[in-house]
Amino acid sequence: MSTRKLGILGFGTVGSGVYESLEKERKRVETLAGFFTIPVVVVKDASKARATGPDTLVTDRLEALFEAEVDTVVEAVTDAEEAYPAVRKLLQKGISVISANKELIARHGEELHLLAAGSGSRLFYEAAVAGGIPILTSIRHTLKTNRILRVEGIVNGTSNFILTKMREEGTAFEAALEEATALGYAEAVPDKDIDGWDAWFKTTILSFWINGAGPEWTEERPQGIRGIDVRDLHLAEKLGGRIKHVASLEGTKASVGPKLVLKDHALYGVEGVNNGVYVEASLSGPLLFQGPGAGKFPTAGAVIEDVINHWTNTAEEEPPFTEPAPAEEEPFPYWF
Ligand code: HSE
Repeated sequence: MSTRKLGILGFGTVGSGVYESLEKERKRVETLAGFFTIPVVVVKDASKARATGPDTLVTDRLEALFEAEVDTVVEAVTDAEEAYPAVRKLLQKGISVISANKELIARHGEELHLLAAGSGSRLFYEAAVAGGIPILTSIRHTLKTNRILRVEGIVNGTSNFILTKMREEGTAFEAALEEATALGYAEAVPDKDIDGWDAWFKTTILSFWINGAGPEWTEERPQGIRGIDVRDLHLAEKLGGRIKHVASLEGTKASVGPKLVLKDHALYGVEGVNNGVYVEASLSGPLLFQGPGAGKFPTAGAVIEDVINHWTNTAEEEPPFTEPAPAEEEPFPYWF
């Protein structure tokens, strides 16, 4: 088997986490998938010191990925619109992409899958939804016969972390947000976390995977957690519940916002940076997936599993065609 060449695009929390984790687990990865190198890391500012080995070129030139003939790229760019042209180019050139970018996929996933199918490349993004929880893989691999009737999820780790800190320790909203940022949970622009957009993008992706189309939103925009104060959280406790930031998908209808969750609800005990995804499946019944929803290594772990699945070809559901078909004739779900 020839040596795999992996490029990394973006070297913030997630990109550096992927690099470190791959080096740490090199033996295991190579046993599973064969030898690999990381010849190029592409960053915005190449003058900044990066913790990479001598065999890795750190550059601000996207072309370096093509020159090095990488076969797979981990995309860990924080800004979706910056990532978009780069990912398009990579897929067009037949290079497979593993992304952690929920906004990119929610906004452009359909088109990017078409491009991938047209060039024989592949696109995966388990890390984009619910961080370390393998929720997309579970839906794809293990809930195929089941119909998914309803999903309720805490899918933004930052919001859950903030609400938990405020309720348990009386921490002020701003201070809790600062801590979430320092711990690498929040997005580069944390407004997307606390105003609900991050959960909105993740719900969009879940809807595509479950229903084959984006959701019908019951409101025009998400509700976030800005404006909730410690007194609200304590009042909720007096009522026997907790305020959680919940994304709901019932059939095709979806909403994102804070919700009073009572003690007997599956999401009541999902605390801190954890995410929880409650799934009602037609045969299996109620399922709860829970685990770290943000953070360097849980997210890197999800990315790396995609890389391995891709390299070992154990990811199922290849597109059922060899040539790109017009979007209107090929519904989105076939592409996973
Ligand atoms: N900012 C995101 C969150 C990171 O807090 O959930 C993981 O998607």
